[in-house]
Amino acid sequence: MPTIREIYSAAQIQERIDQMGEQISSDYKEVDRLVVIGVMKGAILFLADLVRTIKLKNPLQLEFVRLSSYGSGKESTGVIQTPYLELPDIRHKHILIVEDIVDSGRTAKFFKEYLQDQFDPASLKLAAFLDKPSRRRVQVEADYVGFTIEDFFVVGFGLDDAEQYRELPFLGEIVNGGAK
Ligand code: IMP
Ligand code: MG
Repeated sequence: MPTIREIYSAAQIQERIDQMGEQISSDYKEVDRLVVIGVMKGAILFLADLVRTIKLKNPLQLEFVRLSSYGSGKESTGVIQTPYLELPDIRHKHILIVEDIVDSGRTAKFFKEYLQDQFDPASLKLAAFLDKPSRRRVQVEADYVGFTIEDFFVVGFGLDDAEQYRELPFLGEIVNGGAK
């Protein structure tokens, strides 16, 4: 059995998400309809906790897409697959993308450009649970970042290694052997 070394505990994650929620709430306070788009599957735990901390004058709208660039390996393939990309008419709305991690940046860049072209949003921002800036291959920055991490492969809190460990309530690193 592989050992998973904890990097951020569940409590540390919740504390950081609360801070992000406060910032987002203050930035979007007066907006008439914020559309939050979660990028599945990785963002699911982060998104569920984050939206519960966002307090606005008006209700927000939740949407989901599923994008993938990794396949099941640890290296980005560079090709973005779009297994689910159905969105209602959200033209000219304020859009906040919620992602698990910005790694090479390819997924985030692809999706930002897609939304810009399709919906000409009133504003378009990105909230990422994690940022690995040392791995960037394309120019893209998140507007809200939970934690900036070094170049190591992490699992838990939505992130997987070959579809395992997404359910862990903390963020960890596999220290002896992972799924191949
Ligand atoms: P991108 O390279 O920025 O396009 O990131 C693509 C996807 O790779 C992310 O949405 C994650 O699902 C996955 N990914 C990147 N780094 C890690 C990691 O350390 N652990 C688990 N998944 C990762
Ligand atoms: Mg993944």
